[in-house]
Amino acid sequence: MPTIMAVSGSPSPASFTQEVLALTARRLRAAGHRVDTLAVRDLPAEALLGADTGHPAIADAVARLAAADAVVLATPVYKAAYSGLLKAFLDLLPQYALEGKVVLPLASGGSPAHTLAIDYGLRPVLASMRPAAITGAVFVPSNEARRGPDGRREVDPAVSARLAEAADRFEKLLAALAPAARSVPVREAA
Ligand SMILES: Cc1cc2nc3c(=O)[nH]c(=O)nc-3n(C[C@H](O)[C@H](O)[C@H](O)COP(=O)(O)O)c2cc1C
Repeated sequence: MPTIMAVSGSPSPASFTQEVLALTARRLRAAGHRVDTLAVRDLPAEALLGADTGHPAIADAVARLAAADAVVLATPVYKAAYSGLLKAFLDLLPQYALEGKVVLPLASGGSPAHTLAIDYGLRPVLASMRPAAITGAVFVPSNEARRGPDGRREVDPAVSARLAEAADRFEKLLAALAPAARSVPVREAA
């Protein structure tokens, strides 16, 4: 069974990006995948900014990413680009840390004018880390998200459908490319 690492690059304590990522992670778990999650904001700030790969928390995050067959990377759009927090994490990884992995980039943003920020900004960075494939990115507009009864923002059904399609494409590519994915996945509780 392949392992998918779900990485949130949002610094926000009540992050919409994190909610979008959690939605996708739930879907992938329901499809039988093992999903490991990492919020970069939970890593020790000094070690992260100092790229201290000897720090146990950083070493653990790097090792978990290395062990994953695929990665879902979620970031808010800040100042027309992906977050600096995500970049700090990517910068401390080995040069080809995504080698052999399938990557699904997700972004949340306030302005449709910045829909392509991920394709123009993040995609070349990811490509430099030699992934097996980067599947189609999904931009989730935060201004269309309504608050649910529990106070959390709910993704618009049309966007939710786009996320589901992206997750399906990601899964298919993972099954085609990752040797471990060729075995029948064990179903886990969502
Ligand atoms: C400092 C800052 C800068 C932002 N810049 C942009 C931007 O340039 N383009 C955009 O579409 N949204 C921008 N936004 C809106 C966020 O991308 C959007 O609200 C996102 O869903 C926030 O995700 P988060 O809750 O994980 O932080 C910005 C928000 C903040 C706080």
